[in-house]
Amino acid sequence: MRSVIPDYLDEVLRHVEPDTGGELAGYIPELAAADPERLGAVFATVDGELYGAGDIDTEFTIQSISKPFTYALALADRGFGPVLAKVGVEPSGEAFNQISLEPGTGRPLNPMINAGAITTHALAGSADLSPAERVERVVHGLSEFAGRRLRVDDAVCASEMEHAHRNLAIAHMLRSHGILTEDPSAVVEGYVRQCSVLVTARDLAMMAATLANRGVNPRSGVRVAPEPVVRQVLSVMSTCGMYDAAGDWATQVGIPAKSGVAGGLIGALPGQIGIATFSPRLDRHGNSVRGVSLFERFSSDMGLHVM
Ligand code: DON
Repeated sequence: MRSVIPDYLDEVLRHVEPDTGGELAGYIPELAAADPERLGAVFATVDGELYGAGDIDTEFTIQSISKPFTYALALADRGFGPVLAKVGVEPSGEAFNQISLEPGTGRPLNPMINAGAITTHALAGSADLSPAERVERVVHGLSEFAGRRLRVDDAVCASEMEHAHRNLAIAHMLRSHGILTEDPSAVVEGYVRQCSVLVTARDLAMMAATLANRGVNPRSGVRVAPEPVVRQVLSVMSTCGMYDAAGDWATQVGIPAKSGVAGGLIGALPGQIGIATFSPRLDRHGNSVRGVSLFERFSSDMGLHVM
């Protein structure tokens, strides 16, 4: 018998489609040129089934959705102690691009905001890697989560680098506190390359399903991260993944999640399913407007709220 899930997804996409609220990410010129009408959603189960509707094979840049996965790589490569010494796990209650450093130590409050993610980029792989080798460690790791080789969009990367003053300022602050020990510009460039990795909603659902499957990609069978690392990542996604909208999200959707400014949004339900949506217009927090609506529907229709 044919699965009813694609029909359900079609129906939910039709429901949110007329909503033209929100804006494209204007601060990265290449993203401001994206097609705002794109809309897609994918479910990937922990036993490797995939169901999608709409624009599920359109490529867009992963942006901040790379952050939980790079955090996983840093924890796996360096261990909990060294990573926690440099990046905290407390929600900042502030926008993703605020400085949000712990008073005194200069430690970024969590790995989902830019300050924390710039730091975890520098912690992926061993300490002696060159900037290019570190980017390769990250792209390889993200690819293993997705189950296919991913690549960087050089045009989006160059476009963001031209306007990266805020991230450069954050990296210099981190360097002044000794949180970063490398050249701040090289770390920001590596972080921006990480954000410029191209994915589809299908890839993101597989990446989320790998988290839901406690670190093993459900299709390739490859263990990408140890179980305790995945638990740590999902915990931080549930408290910090939606930035200063984390409280609204926790109460209304209740799924560990992460958003990106190109319009992607993922959620991972441990032991069950990875979900990804794609719709480029963003709310004032930098989260996809129609993506948030889709997740609200999924959560209430299927009782996915973890509480
Ligand atoms: O650091 C930045 O500004 C971007 N490359 C990533 C930001 C992002 O995706 C924020 N999330 N919603």
